[in-house]
Amino acid sequence: MQLAKWAHDLAESLLAEPLPQRWAHSQRVYFQALTLAPTLGEDAELLAAAAIAHDIGYAEAAVDTGQHMIDGARYLRDVVGADPRLCSIVAFHTSSSWEASELGLADALGEFELTDPELVDAITYCDLTSSPVGDLVDPAERLSEVLERYGPEHVVFRAVSAARPELMARVARVRRRHAESMVAKLN
Ligand SMILES: [Fe+2]
Repeated sequence: MQLAKWAHDLAESLLAEPLPQRWAHSQRVYFQALTLAPTLGEDAELLAAAAIAHDIGYAEAAVDTGQHMIDGARYLRDVVGADPRLCSIVAFHTSSSWEASELGLADALGEFELTDPELVDAITYCDLTSSPVGDLVDPAERLSEVLERYGPEHVVFRAVSAARPELMARVARVRRRHAESMVAKLN
């Protein structure tokens, strides 16, 4: 797990002290990624690395546009020279596309290519099953909590409202693929 270890150390150095809740959340997202590992084959390590680093865009050293998915991906690309696939998964995780549209940042997100849609589904599942403080949570409840936390005037509220059907579809796809893959392993 070289890549995952590297990403873990990087995320820990950026988040653990200044943003302990965000770090607790990131660790849960990482553990959720590990639960998918048996069905992901070679991509398991890439997903684990993306999971632990997905929110580094909140770290002071990374904040630029204020859209944390873009800021995190740019930090990975420009500051630490990460694998473009890792940057892509971080750039597109969860409601990124909808937030970028709301914020007029579609061009900034367009700096990244969507290389691994299945892994974006997977990281979205991991993110939405992890609460802001690192507990396991139901994805529908998690989205309701986000909407409540931000309120109707906030860009995140509008983005998540618009994204909600697709985000739940991603969760469903991940669960289906995981179940099918586990069944195939048993046969
Ligand atoms: Fe997250």
